[in-house]
Amino acid sequence: MPVIAIIGAQWGDEGKGKIVDLLAEKVNVVVRFSGGNNAGHTVVNQLGEFRMHLIPSGIFHPDVTCVIGNGVVIDPAAFLDEVESLKQHNVSTGNLFVSDRAHLIMPYHILLDGLEEEARGSGAIGTTRKGIGPAFADKTSRMGIRICDLLDKETFRRRLGFVLEYKNSILTKLYGAAPLSLDELYHDYSQYGERLAPYVRETDVILEEALERGEWVLLEGAQGTMLDLDFGTYPYVTSAVTGGVSLGVGISPANIKEVVGVLKAYTTRVGSGPMPTELHDECGDQMRERGHEYGTTTGRPRRCGWLDAVVARYSAEVNGFTSTAITKFDILDDFSSLRICTAYKVDGAIYNRPPAHTALFERCEPVYEELPGWQCPTSNIRRFEELPSQAQAYVRRIEELVGCPASIISVGADREQTIMVTPIP
Ligand code: GDP
Ligand code: IMO
Ligand code: MG
Repeated sequence: MPVIAIIGAQWGDEGKGKIVDLLAEKVNVVVRFSGGNNAGHTVVNQLGEFRMHLIPSGIFHPDVTCVIGNGVVIDPAAFLDEVESLKQHNVSTGNLFVSDRAHLIMPYHILLDGLEEEARGSGAIGTTRKGIGPAFADKTSRMGIRICDLLDKETFRRRLGFVLEYKNSILTKLYGAAPLSLDELYHDYSQYGERLAPYVRETDVILEEALERGEWVLLEGAQGTMLDLDFGTYPYVTSAVTGGVSLGVGISPANIKEVVGVLKAYTTRVGSGPMPTELHDECGDQMRERGHEYGTTTGRPRRCGWLDAVVARYSAEVNGFTSTAITKFDILDDFSSLRICTAYKVDGAIYNRPPAHTALFERCEPVYEELPGWQCPTSNIRRFEELPSQAQAYVRRIEELVGCPASIISVGADREQTIMVTPIP
């Protein structure tokens, strides 16, 4: 059962890209199974610094097969741009495959994402405006267009004609916007289809065959558990599953051996919605500046705060983390003392799990426990035992609160800046 899943434990941007690039060295296949180009996964290695949106972060290992699975929604222009930019950096995309079952992001999805956000007014979600929500909504309501439809021009024209009539009616009648031209859309997307075709495969078969050969498969999560459509802070979530990995690639959950939760040593969030440990003071600013906490996809400043162990424990339970990769540990190097939120309080009542009710979650006050900081650089440390005792104690306390061991501690953005506590796989 050689599958490892890498899942974001918070609100995204935990450092999944770094961990996937690191672990990809030891696996045969890396798969994106969910989300779309709302994701921004940063990889820093000997080839440079890369911001991956759709293409798996395993692409830098020439022997690794990279798969964009059926659970991902694909903006073909974004995909082709990303391929082009990798080629310019001499990164091979010869082993990159896209599922024929994946749904497309169409221009009306992007338009509607923006129009819906504006219509929400003060209740706006703060989406990336990449068309993710509308594309997943169409998939679920059976109005989507899949890559396999795109590759068959007759089917594509018929399907697009049917869907576009409906979309144009919403654009013009509900929002007073201009309609989109069927001919133009058909022409542009047919061209994308031709350029996409060499990458398209029955990717579930690729995975099945790899597993039959006993090869290791790494599933690269996008977003984070608190942005999950079901388990996140609804409606301030993305429109996809961020865990539930087997659904997005067509392999049995029985194959999953390890589930590594990527957990930033503090908390960040982009966009609206509850975040009990958010700081509006110098500590938050220090995290943002030291940690370069600005969105990889949109450039927006990320909201920053202390580690929320209620969220981390909940993520561990929901996803069945077998271990965590604690990232951005070095960003806490200068703090004289650190706080961890161990529970929430509302009107005198204690909560040990994030409440489903968003208005209640918004009223949650963090209950903190304080730990001493280590106040020395950790970026050059490569062994757990060499960490200052206060830093070791911070990790141990996180392990206790989350309920699983830390297998990796990341002390810098670079692939090398890593403490492997336990080998994976
Ligand atoms: P992802 O979406 O989960 O892949 O995370 P992002 O790439 O959006 O954001 C994480 C940011 O932190 C990126 O700029 C990474 O290069 C950087 N990063 C990852 N791990 C570490 C770390 O341990 N220390 C530091 N200083 N930066 C890190
Ligand atoms: P990675 O994979 C952080 C957030 C958006 C917004 C909400 C809905 O890099 O961790 P959407 O465009 O998906 O409809 O926006 O989800 N969001 C992310 N935040 N990291 C991400 O991805 C995100 N993908 C979506 O900011 O609040
Ligand atoms: Mg990101």
